[in-house]
This record gives sequence, structure tokens and C-alpha cells, in this order.
Amino acid sequence: MRLSRLFYSLRLRIFLIVALIGVMSCLAVHFAILESYENRAVSVRTSEVQTQMMIIANHLINYNYLMDPSSEVVNAELDMLANLYDGRVIVIDSGLRIRRDTYGISQGRTIISEEVVRCLKNGVSGATSKYDRQNGYIEMTTPIVATQQLMTGDITGRKQTQEVTRGVLLTSVSTDYIRTTLNVLSRSALTIEIILILFILVFAYWMSLALLRPFTQLTRAIEEVKAGFTSEPIVGPGYVETERIVHAFNQLLQRMKVLDDSRQEFVANVSHELKTPITSVKVLADSLLTQEEVPAEVYRDFMEDIAAEVDREDKIITDLLSLVRMDKRATELNITTVDVGAMTEIVLKRLRPIARKHDISLTLETRRTIMADIDEVKMSMVLTNLVENGIKYNHDGGFVQVVLDADHQYFTIEVSDSGIGIPEESLGHIFERFYRVDKSHSREIGGTGLGLAITRSAVLMHRGTIDVSSVPGEGTTFTVRIPLTHAV
Ligand SMILES: Nc1ncnc2c1ncn2[C@@H]1O[C@H](COP(=O)(O)OP(=O)(O)OP(=O)(O)O)[C@@H](O)[C@H]1O
Ligand SMILES: [Mg+2]
Repeated sequence: MRLSRLFYSLRLRIFLIVALIGVMSCLAVHFAILESYENRAVSVRTSEVQTQMMIIANHLINYNYLMDPSSEVVNAELDMLANLYDGRVIVIDSGLRIRRDTYGISQGRTIISEEVVRCLKNGVSGATSKYDRQNGYIEMTTPIVATQQLMTGDITGRKQTQEVTRGVLLTSVSTDYIRTTLNVLSRSALTIEIILILFILVFAYWMSLALLRPFTQLTRAIEEVKAGFTSEPIVGPGYVETERIVHAFNQLLQRMKVLDDSRQEFVANVSHELKTPITSVKVLADSLLTQEEVPAEVYRDFMEDIAAEVDREDKIITDLLSLVRMDKRATELNITTVDVGAMTEIVLKRLRPIARKHDISLTLETRRTIMADIDEVKMSMVLTNLVENGIKYNHDGGFVQVVLDADHQYFTIEVSDSGIGIPEESLGHIFERFYRVDKSHSREIGGTGLGLAITRSAVLMHRGTIDVSSVPGEGTTFTVRIPLTHAV
């Protein structure tokens, strides 16, 4: 398979879709879990440290540390905390001066940090925290709040308490341990994921095979029919979709069978029809040869019969050839704009001598002028065949009437006769090749059973329809309906 074709492979697409969905969800879970662990760890640590700092802030007030940062107890406490959390604690007073730094490097300096200033301003609710993922630490501010008692100016003399922010604790704690845990987690997750992804790929491959199995089976079944091992309808439980294909294919098969059967029947009929005149000729010739001293008149008689049989053979072959020609596509129509009335007159004129022989009246009724895009030769043949039948299968002294009419889309040719009619059970067959209602009678009249088959082909080539209705003993009417304009 070429590379560009490969992309159109349903199997590859199924494989890719399943694999992609599997791998993507795997990765999504991976990142979601790691992220939520990190957030949780950071927030736990933050609130833990914040609590500690709040306690220290209280101690700072109690020991009045901001005025005198020499308290051993508090200093030890600060160092211990800084050690414990692997971080740094800075004590800042309300004048933004650094009173103590557990790193011991910036004591006495003034700090100008947005967080610190905001914390001082916000008082009790000034605690903030910020996680710096890149550098791996959390920075927190904790207000150092003292509670003052004020005398209210009113007469009740009640005391009021007020909270005053005396300073800020700026703490940064390392998040290295979170990182380490994350790395360990990530590594073990990766191992599981690789196994999972391998599993997903195998699963996707299996899915792509399994989902397409009905199609593979279907192809194999069709190929068996194609190769000619079987011509049985294929069966296959499968998807609704494949069942539809199976159904369509079986119908196609059925049609092919019908075609094949009718072709065989046709060949058999042709052979039989062609053989009959030859057999007659042979019989006639043999009987002449076996007799001795045959009078000249008998010779003449027999030769006339032989000539008639040869004519019959010739007619059959001519009809067959026009049928075969007709079976080719409608592109071979020679379409011109034809005056259908005039065309009909010509046909009837040609047939009048035969009609007169049987004392049959031939009439034409033209309800309106019809100009139509048709193949004149083929349409004349249609008319000839129908009128000829009307004359042939008629009683002496009967009539054949042709009526021409049209609406805005179609024109109709109606050929009715007062003839012998067609029995109901034969109506469905008269358009078949070589079909004749009464074989012996027709033979005597001289039909081959091809006339109506040719007629129907010509009508269908014009995208028209042909219908027949008949009452045995009373007469028959053929109705041909043809579009006025020929759509290619
Ligand atoms: N107008 C009709 N009245 C009665 N029977 C008819 C009529 N037209 C056709 N048939 C019957 O239909 C059969 C088929 O007609 P079709 O024209 O195909 O063959 P045909 O007339 O026997 O031979 P061909 O037309 O080839 O010389 C005829 O043999 C005849 O039995
Ligand atoms: Mg005929």
C-alpha cells in the first residue's frame, strides 16, 4: 500500500484514534495527579508555617522583642523554626526596619517589599503567602499584632480594645522536599504509564483488527463469489453497515443471475428459431432428392417453399441485428425534430396495401400537431411493428386505428385494433424476445416474436413507456408515451 493510501486505511485510523485517546488520558491523569499533589503539599506547609508564625508573633509582643531584640528565648525559637523548615525568618518593625534575620545578613537595614507594606497596612488579616515554584520556596508574611486597651471618651467609661500592627514576620521556607517527592512520584508514575501505554497500543491494534473483522470477512466472501467458487448469496452476521452491503451485493448477484439466465434462454431461443427454417429447407430439399423424375411444377412448388423459409431466416437475422443494435446505449439515437403526424402518415401509407388485402380499415386521428425530438427511423419502426401486429392479429374486415395526442411534456401514440386480443396470462410476456401467444397460429402468420421486443427497446431508448390492454376476442390497444424533448 502506498504511503498516502495508508492514511485512508480505516484500520489505521481506528488504531490511531484509540491509541491517541488512551495515551492522552494517561498523560492527563499523570499531570492532574502531580499538580494536585503539589498544590496540596504547598497549602499544607503554608498553613502549618503560618500557624507557627502566629504563635511566634505573640511571643514577640509578649517579650517586647521589637523594642529589644535580645531575648534569648525568642531568638532560639526563631532559629529553631528557620532550621526546621529549612528557611529564613525576618522580623520587621513598623518602621520597615529589619530587627532580626535568621541568616544574619540584613539586620538593621530597611526593607521595601510590597508584601510587607501591604501586610502592615492590612493588620490582622495581612497574612499572605506566595509560592515561587521556579526557585522552590514559599514566602509568607505574618503580621505582628498587639492588643491595646483604650479608654473611650464617652460617659459610660467602658474600655475598648484595639489591635495595632507592630511589625511583620517575613518567612520563606524551602519546598525542596515537595520537589523531591514529586520527582519520586513522577518516576514511578512514568513506569506505570509506559506499561499502560504499551498495553493501550496493543489494545488499539487489537481493536483495529476486531472492528474491521466483518469487513474483512465480507471482502473474502465477495472474492469467493468473484472467483467463481460459489454463486450462493453471501451471509454474514456483522454490523448493520456490513449487512447493508451484503444485502446490496446479494441483490446484485440476483440480478446477474437473472441476466445470465435470460441470456442463456435467449441464446437457446435464437438457436432454435434459426434452426427451424433450416430444418424445413433441409426436409424440402431431401424430399426432392429422394424422389425420381419429379415434375417441374412440384420442383417449383418446393423451391418456392424453400425461398419462403430462407426469407424467414433472413427476417429473423435482420430483427436480431436491430435488437442487438438497440441494446447499445441511447447515445446512438439520431435525434431530430420530427413532425409525428407526417411520420405516421408515411408509415400507414406503406402498410395500407397489406391492410387492404385483409379488408382492414386503417385510420389516423391527429388531435394536435406534434413536433418532437425523436429518432425518426426508430420511432417509425415502433409504429410499423404495432400497426403490423394490429393487421396481422385481426379478423378480415376489422379495423386498426392510430390516435396521436400530446400534453405539454409527452406525446402519445395509441394503436387499437378489433383483432383476436391477447389472453390475460400472456400480457406480461409479449414484450419478451421470441414470445408468441399461439405458436402454431403465429407461425402460419409468419411472426418471429421479436417485433414487440424491438419496439419496447426503441421506446425505452427514448425514455418513454409502452402499455398494453386487451380483451380477447374484441381487440387490443397499445399506448406509447414519449417525452417531447429528449433529455440527454
Ligand atoms: N395487436 C395484437 N393483437 C393480438 N395479439 C398480439 C398483438 N400484438 C402482438 N400480439 C401477440 O404478441 C406476440 C408477440 O408480438 P411480436 O410483434 O413481438 O411478434 P410477432 O408479431 O409474432 O413477430 P414479428 O413482429 O417479429 O414478426 C405475437 O406473436 C402475438 O401473439
Ligand atoms: Mg409483430
